[in-house]
Amino acid sequence: MKKIVLGVSASISAYKAVEIVRLLKKKGVWVKVLMTKDATRFVSPLTFEVVSEEKVIVDQFEDANNREVEHIKLAREADLFLIAPASLDLIGKLSTGIADSFLSLFFFAFEKKVLIAPAMNSSMFKHPVNQRNIESLKEIGVEFLEPDSGSLACGEEGIGRLPEPEFIVERVIFETEEKFFSGKKIIVTGGPTREKLDDFRFISNPSSGKTGYYLAKKARDFGGEVLFISGKTCFNSLWGVNYVEIESAEEMKREVKKGISNADILIMSAAVADFKPSEYRRGKIKKDEVSSSMEIKLERTPDILKEISGDKKKGQIFVGFSAQDNKKVEEAERKLKEKKLDLIVLNNIMEKRGGFESEENRVILIFNDGEVRKTDFILKEELAEIILRAIYEKWIKGIK
Ligand SMILES: Cc1cc2nc3c(=O)[nH]c(=O)nc-3n(C[C@H](O)[C@H](O)[C@H](O)COP(=O)(O)O)c2cc1C
Repeated sequence: MKKIVLGVSASISAYKAVEIVRLLKKKGVWVKVLMTKDATRFVSPLTFEVVSEEKVIVDQFEDANNREVEHIKLAREADLFLIAPASLDLIGKLSTGIADSFLSLFFFAFEKKVLIAPAMNSSMFKHPVNQRNIESLKEIGVEFLEPDSGSLACGEEGIGRLPEPEFIVERVIFETEEKFFSGKKIIVTGGPTREKLDDFRFISNPSSGKTGYYLAKKARDFGGEVLFISGKTCFNSLWGVNYVEIESAEEMKREVKKGISNADILIMSAAVADFKPSEYRRGKIKKDEVSSSMEIKLERTPDILKEISGDKKKGQIFVGFSAQDNKKVEEAERKLKEKKLDLIVLNNIMEKRGGFESEENRVILIFNDGEVRKTDFILKEELAEIILRAIYEKWIKGIK
C-alpha cells in the first residue's frame, strides 16, 4: 500500500485538499495529514480526520513525549510528501530552514520525494522573494507543480490557483509507481476510427477510448516512453505522453508505421473500423441528391497488425485486442498466431456490463506460450494495469 503524507497550509484553497485525500483513499492510498496551525482556520482537522481515517497532526508539542519519535517514524514509512496547498509563508520557511511546526519539521526529516503545489494570489506567487525561495528548493531536488491560471479567490485573474485535485492525485500516483518500463518505448493505440463518407458523415463504432487511454496513462506511470495514437474520444490530452490524434484507420496505420521500428512494445487496443465507404465526397452530400434510398459501397480498411507483423523485430512485444460477439478462444488463438502476437486480449462486446462505452470490462488474456488468464468484471483502469504488469512479468523482468 502506498503511503502519502499530505501537508496543508493556510491558503484559501485548503478545502481542495479534502478532495485530494478522498481521491487518494479511493485509489487505496494511506494518507496522513499534517496541518499548520493557521490552516486549521480554513478547514477543520476533523474534516481531514473523517476523510483520511487517520488522526491529523497540527501541534508538534502536543503529546510531546512521543512526537519527537513520531515525525522520524512517519518520515521513514512514507513514500512521498505532498504539500498542497503550500502558502508563501510555508515555502519561505522551508527554503530557509525554519521548523516551527510539525509540518515544517517533518519536511526536514523526510529524505524521499517532496512535491509542492503552491497556491496564492498572482502578485504573491510572482514576488521575487517567493520565486527565489522556490528556486532554492528546486535546487535541492524538491519538485513543484505549476499553479493554474484563472480567477483567484481574491477576485483577481492570474496565476496562483491550486491545480485541480484530480491532476494532483494523478501526479502523486505517477511519482510513486515502480518505473519498470523505464527506457522502453511503448506505442498504444486507442479509441474508434472514423471512416468518412463526406465531411460530415462517417462510419465508426461506440468505443469510448477508455481502455487505450488508461493503458497509455499507466504505461507512462510505469516509466515507459509512450506514443499514444488515438481516435477522437472525450479525452483530449494526457501529460507525459506523446499524444497523436487521428481520424481514419489509414491515418492510424501511418502513425503506427512511423513509430514501430523504434518501439519495444506495441499495444493495439483501438477499435479500428473494419470497413470504410469506397468513395469519399468532399463537402456534404445533399439530401436532395437522394430521392428515397442510397447505396453505400464499403471496402475493408487495412488490418494494421497483420500488415506490420511481417516486419516484427526480435524482442518486440505485440499485443492485440479482439472484440467479438461471442467468446471464441480458438478464433483469438488463430489471430494470435497469424499476426505474430505475444498476447491477445479477448473481450465479448455483447456483454451488457462490459465492452464499449462501459467503465468496466471482463476479458480473457491469451498468451503466445498457451497460458490463458481470465478476469472478472474490473474497471478498465485496473485492466490496463493487469495487462501492463503481465507484459512486464512475462517478457521484461527476466531480461532486465
Ligand atoms: C482569507 C485569507 C486567505 C489567504 N489565502 C492565502 C493563500 O491562498 N496563499 C497564501 O500563501 N497565503 C494566504 N493567506 C495568508 C496566510 O494564511 C498567512 O500567511 C498564514 O500565516 C500562513 O500560515 P502557514 O504558512 O503557517 O500555513 C490568506 C490569508 C487570509 C486571511
